Amino acid sequence: MEHRITKYPLEQGALEIEYIEEFFGEYKRRKTSSEIVGRLQNRDHLILMAMAPLPDDPGTVVPVSYKVAHEIRAEENIPKLARLRDYVNFNDRRILYTWVGGTRRDWRGQGHFRALTEQQEQWAIDNGFDEILVKTKNRFYEMRGTLDHLRFNVVKYEPHTDNQESKVYLSKKLGQEVLDAHRSMRKVVTVGE
Ligand SMILES: CC(C)(COP(=O)(O)OP(=O)(O)OC[C@H]1O[C@@H](n2cnc3c(N)ncnc32)[C@H](O)[C@@H]1OP(=O)(O)O)[C@@H](O)C(=O)NCCC(=O)NCCS
Repeated sequence: MEHRITKYPLEQGALEIEYIEEFFGEYKRRKTSSEIVGRLQNRDHLILMAMAPLPDDPGTVVPVSYKVAHEIRAEENIPKLARLRDYVNFNDRRILYTWVGGTRRDWRGQGHFRALTEQQEQWAIDNGFDEILVKTKNRFYEMRGTLDHLRFNVVKYEPHTDNQESKVYLSKKLGQEVLDAHRSMRKVVTVGE
């Protein structure tokens, strides 16, 4: 199966993220488009969505999976990001942080998230990044299982008094071997180009 991927510019992408997150019951608090723009606007970033037809209306294609990443630097003002400094080596290295992502329930298990992940890795390598970092929580079992399949390695476990809320940080070092392991077929459309 060839996955259709759209790469969005910031403002439109932020609205699309706000919209797709309405379909996720997992998130306690969804992000607003202005929050998304605020986080991404002064850093290198990538907003990708996988598109697929609606089952009852195959002529209509909608975003079904998304993945949003941005650069992080050794010096960060946002406390959540500043903490990441301890978990990854920034010495002359570019680090990409996967901020949010997921697949709508009805489209899970069809390889959309793998396709987005592989496209993100391709972009990251093309743009000189050395490592991708991601954070999840103990209670996000599907995401943990998926990151396992996608060959991310745990770099830090951050305990919480409620262990379900404990954070798990994972990373993948980038290189040709990462590209060689890619399996998805992808067609990428860039909005605004
Ligand atoms: C995790 C999630 C993104 C996976 O999306 P998806 O589009 O179904 O994933 P894919 O079909 O591309 O699967 C990618 C790989 O992960 C594996 N995988 C998918 N769901 C899995 C699960 N629940 N448990 C274990 N492995 C899983 C697949 O088998 C596949 O591996 P393979 O390519 O080696 O066969 C999706 O289930 C989701 O959005 N879950 C909720 C998100 C969430 O909890 N977010 C919290 C913030 S971190």
